[in-house]
Amino acid sequence: MDYFELVDKAYKEHNLAKGEVMRLLEPKGVEEEAYLFKKADQLRHECVGDCVHLRGLIEFSSHCRRNCKYCGLRRDNVSLERYRLSPEDIVKIAHNAALLGYKTIVLQSGEDEFYTADVMAYIIKEIKKIADVAITLCIGERSYEEYKIMKEAGADRYLLKFETANPGHYREMHPDMSYKDRIDCLMALKDLGYEVGSGDIVGLPGQTVEHLAEDIMLLKELDVEMAGIGPFIPHHSTPFRDEARGTLEMTLRMVAITRLMLPYANIPATTAVGTIHPQGRQKALMAGANVVMPNVMPPEYRPRYEIYPSKICIGEKPSHCRLCIEGIIRSLGREVGQDYGSYRGR
Ligand code: SAM
Ligand code: SF4
Ligand code: FES
Repeated sequence: MDYFELVDKAYKEHNLAKGEVMRLLEPKGVEEEAYLFKKADQLRHECVGDCVHLRGLIEFSSHCRRNCKYCGLRRDNVSLERYRLSPEDIVKIAHNAALLGYKTIVLQSGEDEFYTADVMAYIIKEIKKIADVAITLCIGERSYEEYKIMKEAGADRYLLKFETANPGHYREMHPDMSYKDRIDCLMALKDLGYEVGSGDIVGLPGQTVEHLAEDIMLLKELDVEMAGIGPFIPHHSTPFRDEARGTLEMTLRMVAITRLMLPYANIPATTAVGTIHPQGRQKALMAGANVVMPNVMPPEYRPRYEIYPSKICIGEKPSHCRLCIEGIIRSLGREVGQDYGSYRGR
């Protein structure tokens, strides 16, 4: 089977073997790659439509107890000036985002135990009282009980990337964390009825094409409702400061193959892909992605949530990003989704 036939097979069956995914990750030429993107875009159109769903991202705390080697928020980075928002301020920012038209709010932070499950439950309930939005949590590993409390409070979705599906590579990236714990958390979230998002980082040091294929196989096995795939960007205050960043090309291929394997998944055009290339988000939206997560934080906090440097939108106001992203979406002949943008595959 040549490359084009393999793309056709993925487009029809959504079920490739790992070796076949590896072949798709390494196209022989520009025509092959363009065909991969074209078929992924076509499947995106057929399965999740032309609306691009916006998720308003609230980065409410930069404190983190973890030490992921790639991340600027890791606890050993003492050069970062940390902040933590009060529940009231978080609710206020969520309310403003809803006024700008966002139908989903993503509450994201480092792993910060200051926000117990009960505190999160309070925030979730307060937001739901005043805003008609779906709530996605992205706050790391917690116990089953804690996930349950937050679900019962009204949280709809949870984003927890496995970052790399290869257990050995996972250990290298997170020496004091456990791959099993990560998977157990994802299983707990599924069990509790969250819409679950997971994903990886493309171009992590030590990563091989086989690892990337394993990432796609795991996304398929977990049957995730969301798949977040973004390039690695080195941060100067981490052990990976001198490593190369992930490439646009490989990130786009990962997005496209993930669309072919998971036709109904919500797949964001990440901020990271917009950071490594000025047209990165547009290209991802044309290679299978159907979601964007604009920042809705007031500008004064943005530089302090430095996962990686040179992040886009760093000095912008939420209202500016909202208009900017709508312009981008319209320029691609697409529309901004007006509903919650929930998973439609089941
Ligand atoms: N602490 C929570 C967690 O890890 O799930 C949520 C916040 S964390 C900053 C969100 C995501 O940032 C991670 O899942 C990881 O994929 C991504 N990330 C961290 N450092 C990165 C880097 N240097 N380049 C690209 N993505 C990065
Ligand atoms: Fe903390 Fe998340 Fe960064 Fe890891 S990726 S150091 S858990 S904020
Ligand atoms: Fe923030 Fe364009 S989305 S400036």
